[in-house]
Amino acid sequence: MTSPTGFRIVAERDGDASAIEELLDRAFGADRRRKRSHSFRAGIESESSLRLVALDPAGGLAGTLRFWPILVAAPSSPLREALLLGPLAVEPVLRGMGAGRALMHVGLKAAGAAGHALVLLVGEVAYYGQFGFVPAAPLGFDMPGERPERLLARALAPGAQGAGGTILRADAVAAA
Ligand SMILES: CC(C)(COP(=O)(O)OP(=O)(O)OC[C@H]1O[C@@H](n2cnc3c(N)ncnc32)[C@H](O)[C@@H]1OP(=O)(O)O)[C@@H](O)C(=O)NCCC(=O)NCCS
Repeated sequence: MTSPTGFRIVAERDGDASAIEELLDRAFGADRRRKRSHSFRAGIESESSLRLVALDPAGGLAGTLRFWPILVAAPSSPLREALLLGPLAVEPVLRGMGAGRALMHVGLKAAGAAGHALVLLVGEVAYYGQFGFVPAAPLGFDMPGERPERLLARALAPGAQGAGGTILRADAVAAA
């Protein structure tokens, strides 16, 4: 997909990984791995079919979006699979030009097409509300250690949010 402002959204290319790490350091700070949400990603592979980059018209890396598998545990229900969206980041000099929006639209569409029903993220509803994300705590979700007001949810299939639940690492069952 090419956004109206000329960004192309494509799968991560061989060789993008180190530039993405540098972009994430610039966007979130070098201590980004101390964020609570990072503990749900560390040591777990992101969804390989949902690793997206935004390219500027010259083919340079303008932005990145990845998704991680997570589990949702609710009383009296089987564990449910879901996705943790992010990190999402755009090169500082290219912000406000639609790359973030294009990454979000392509990413959510691809996630739905791949059969994922529920997406959670940690971020601001002021930004993610435009993509259909709503506060997750009132729906019964919690991410241990994270501020409840920063946890947002979007169902990609009707009723997928269910009665909410507690976010767990994707390997929580194997580790138990
Ligand atoms: C957040 C981020 C990914 C947005 O990417 P972007 O390419 O600048 O976003 P877009 O150009 O697609 O912006 C789409 C709209 O969202 C708005 N927006 C951007 N950041 C916003 C924010 N933090 N809160 C509310 N609105 C925001 C833009 O003003 C724009 O609105 P408009 O089209 O009505 O003017 C980018 O600013 C970024 O990398 N920030 C640092 C990392 C970060 O905060 N990631 C998200 C974690 S919450």
